[in-house]
Amino acid sequence: MPESKHPVYGPTYAEMRDPDLLDPVFRACAADLQNRSPLHRDNLFNIHWLDARTGVSAFLVPQAVSGLAANLVVMDGGTFPSGSMKVGPAYAMLMERELNEGIRPGSTTVIAPSTGNFGIGAAWVARVKGYEARVVMPSGMSRERYALIERYGATTDLTPGSEADVNLTLQRTQDRYAGQSACAVLGQFSDLANYRFHRHVTAEGVRRAVQGLGLDGVDLFVSAPGSAGTLAAGEGLRESFPDLCIAAVEPEECSTLTDGGRGSHVIEGIGDQMVTLIHNVHATDLVVRVPDVHTIRGTAVFSGSTDDIMAMFGVDADCAVRLQGRFGPSGICNVVGAMQAASYLGLDQSRTVVTVATDSNDRYRSVLDRLSNNLGRQPHRRDLSGWWSETRELEPVRQVLDIREGDHRERLHGMKRDTWVPYGYSADFIDSMQDRTFWDREYALIEQLDLQWQALRQPPASCR
Ligand SMILES: Cc1ncc(COP(=O)(O)O)c(C=O)c1O
Repeated sequence: MPESKHPVYGPTYAEMRDPDLLDPVFRACAADLQNRSPLHRDNLFNIHWLDARTGVSAFLVPQAVSGLAANLVVMDGGTFPSGSMKVGPAYAMLMERELNEGIRPGSTTVIAPSTGNFGIGAAWVARVKGYEARVVMPSGMSRERYALIERYGATTDLTPGSEADVNLTLQRTQDRYAGQSACAVLGQFSDLANYRFHRHVTAEGVRRAVQGLGLDGVDLFVSAPGSAGTLAAGEGLRESFPDLCIAAVEPEECSTLTDGGRGSHVIEGIGDQMVTLIHNVHATDLVVRVPDVHTIRGTAVFSGSTDDIMAMFGVDADCAVRLQGRFGPSGICNVVGAMQAASYLGLDQSRTVVTVATDSNDRYRSVLDRLSNNLGRQPHRRDLSGWWSETRELEPVRQVLDIREGDHRERLHGMKRDTWVPYGYSADFIDSMQDRTFWDREYALIEQLDLQWQALRQPPASCR
């Protein structure tokens, strides 16, 4: 391992899962930095799901919105440093590279292929740790994403297209950066640190959130992959709730998991036309398709005024404030997918479904502007309310595919093999992922990684 003057710094997996392990004075001080000094390196210790004020970064979606008998809980990923929980996997991947390969700032550039949030998170982590960073991303994403990446001092390497063209970012990364000793490629689709982060950290965040909201357990976990990292939280939750069902959501226009569909769509962050390497397809039970128009309109519904939200749903002001601005299109996609999956399973009022808002509406102003431009005006309350009624009319029997039966999981595994063998992974390695022990072994590495990290890192000290 190369010697370096740069000490490594940041939390262990255990500290991200349970920040109460940190010294309380240090933790309070780090929490205070998040708004005051967002690029201070002690913000690395704010990578967790526990809101410093409320204790739980999650909220309940009222029945008047979801139409469900079951409780619907949304994990609020917008509270993380950089504005999206994708910073967590970016940190975990870089931490493991620092540990296993000895990379350090100065001699290494961080390369992050992404359609946005992962790249923003990686740019932020790189900046606070002192690395140069480059985000390889499509040129057609919402403009807020590029501005944030630049604000964190990273450069971009743009490929043609938008969300559904993520394969071009992977190809560009392979051609230009893979194997270069001066580059550390953070591959969120194939790096199991992403899996470890969510199975360990996000799963515990959910457990604490449902407890904090006074609910008994979790019956259904829903997430639209992207990298499928977040879906791994479902596997972590299954350790506590063995009957838990896991649903993956995808855009109707890009129905890759349902039937190999590879169309283009407009939900940024998900629906990347592939089965990712880190997706444990044998742990997924349902696949839900959501038409993308509902997600853009839904983002507008919850970006309206609190008066609109109160009037449309008959909720009180506190509830309207909790809902307002909390969702980007993929968050709405998750909520709609959760509504469909919970209805499909017939979950009653004693049951709980959990999903995730990966970021919030602040990075989709341009998407909402486009919606208004197409409409020729700002949407009125009656537009918003009509749109949400149409969303509520989607029928679960049409939108949900139950993959617990038949050979769907084998089909998905075959797609994974077809995608990843050309990137140099052996068929034998990929086939070993069909056995659950593969995932449990990968997960169990956390204990050793944490011990090594604690021995190597500079201890968290008084944050100023
Ligand atoms: C906005 C948004 N939603 C959802 C996701 C999907 O999350 P995951 O990659 O963990 O599947 C991403 C991933 O980048 C994202 O940026």
